[in-house]
Amino acid sequence: KRVGVLISGSGTNLQALIDATNDLNQGIGAEIVLVISNKAGVAGITRAENARIPTKVIKHGDFPSRLEFDMALHAALTNANIDIVCLAGFMRVLTAEFVKLWKGRLINIHPSLLPSFKGTHAHRQVLEAGVRVTGCTAHFVEADIDAGAILAQETVPVEIGDTEEILQERVKVAEHRVFPQALKLVATGTVQLNQEGKLVWQK
Ligand code: GRF
Repeated sequence: KRVGVLISGSGTNLQALIDATNDLNQGIGAEIVLVISNKAGVAGITRAENARIPTKVIKHGDFPSRLEFDMALHAALTNANIDIVCLAGFMRVLTAEFVKLWKGRLINIHPSLLPSFKGTHAHRQVLEAGVRVTGCTAHFVEADIDAGAILAQETVPVEIGDTEEILQERVKVAEHRVFPQALKLVATGTVQLNQEGKLVWQK
């Protein structure tokens, strides 16, 4: 399967996806063939370049509306014959129109145990709530933020004295395992999304 990855920043999840898909022993059944960033000069672009993966910068500010930005993303993905899109720290909300076009082929990693702590600043929300366990979730993307059928999760302890930054680093280690695992499930056809937005597991 041909995978496109959308990023906005440091790209450590992108790196995990690159490493996992390059390791044929893992049988992910996918190759990353395009990385798109909505920001120029981010470390994730350099990671893609180092892995000799074609990159594109498509700045949201260059478009008059969300929909036009999303359709530029869609055109770039379609031109590259992308089968599956991974959102790896992509910090733009995608329109319902885009999500519909990629339904069942669009996955995201979120740094909490969904459905708890949706949206931005998940770690801040976790620390404010005082929960002792958090984690990360890979899921199919629906138009509603951080909704959509859950593909894979891993728990991570919250330690006394954690700051947002410390917690983020601990959760990221789990993200780097969970996201490639979720991509494998989709790329190998082990799991599919049905019309009702529920997972169907291959027998
Ligand atoms: C990750 O924590 C991801 O879950 C969140 O943004 C962060 C991106 O980090 N949505 P990176 O760019 O993959 O290093």
